[in-house]
Amino acid sequence: MTKKDVQFEVEVYNSSAELSAPDAALLEEARKTTANAYAPYSKFLVSAVAALEGGQKVVGTNQENASYPVGICAERVLLSTVASQYPGQAIDTIAISYNNTQGKSGHPISPCGICRQSLSEYEERINHPIRIILSGLSGEVFIIKQAKDLLPLTFTSSDLG
Ligand code: THU
Repeated sequence: MTKKDVQFEVEVYNSSAELSAPDAALLEEARKTTANAYAPYSKFLVSAVAALEGGQKVVGTNQENASYPVGICAERVLLSTVASQYPGQAIDTIAISYNNTQGKSGHPISPCGICRQSLSEYEERINHPIRIILSGLSGEVFIIKQAKDLLPLTFTSSDLG
């Protein structure tokens, strides 16, 4: 028996004031566009904003439904929009923020498991790492170098043989 040690690095900043200007601007856009989410059930408004390699910015927000499982997370709304509007374009960075209108929004949240799988496949499909900036409306900011770091031992298309 051997053991594998799976690790990844997270950059931790005290606030957006410590970020580079482009990263701070992207995060600010994610914070603002949480207002575009449709989350009347959870009251948890999420936005993910992508900076594409070509310079364009694309926004995705969570869109819920009275039939709860129909709802879709901000990250997957974003990836579907990018793939549809800018086919083949690499995503350099995604900033994700949220407004928990019934609680606190002062710490970073991280994408759910399904979104990690989607992010990881987008990276593989375009063969370009996606940096991820995570923060609430205020407070600490985490930066992750590539989406696949969030999903060790990922199931991928190559597993299908
Ligand atoms: N949600 C996202 O959009 N992204 C995440 O990373 C976490 C959760 C949404 C799903 C649901 O509409 C609401 O937040 C509460 O879970």
